[in-house]
Amino acid sequence: MDKHDVLTVTQVSERSGFAPSALRFYEERGLISASRSPGGRRRYERSVLRRLAFIRAAANVGLTLDEIRDELDRLPSHRTPTKADWTRISQHWRTRLDEQISALRALRDGLDSCIGCGCLSLRTCGVANPGDTAATSERAPGATRLPAALRRPHGLG
Ligand code: FES
Repeated sequence: MDKHDVLTVTQVSERSGFAPSALRFYEERGLISASRSPGGRRRYERSVLRRLAFIRAAANVGLTLDEIRDELDRLPSHRTPTKADWTRISQHWRTRLDEQISALRALRDGLDSCIGCGCLSLRTCGVANPGDTAATSERAPGATRLPAALRRPHGLG
């Protein structure tokens, strides 16, 4: 590999906007990979920049780290997303964003009845119990009461 095709941690950090610690974290989680120089320093292929741009875009849409890794793993040979890949994936994400927007609108509309109330009743409050999920869920701690489109079990690290 030509030495101009590999980037140091500092170069990747400057060009991608991700801190070196984030790069290490993504490597540990299997989202990106690095080789090692003879001195043991991380070296990245230039294509990692596109992969990091994909990770940022996915995080902005609300995907969890596991979901981002699943998307990347679905690519042939775990390669960097091409324009065609991106077109297909972004269409799917648009649907996901539409669902999240609808769920947020419903939550916002439910909030109207909370103004001046303060009951936070699991029976009647449309925000504390949107869609009356408390009545239908056997175990309903915390985020499981959110509409499915708004649940994020694992945040982006
Ligand atoms: S706080 Fe009473 S309806 Fe939401």
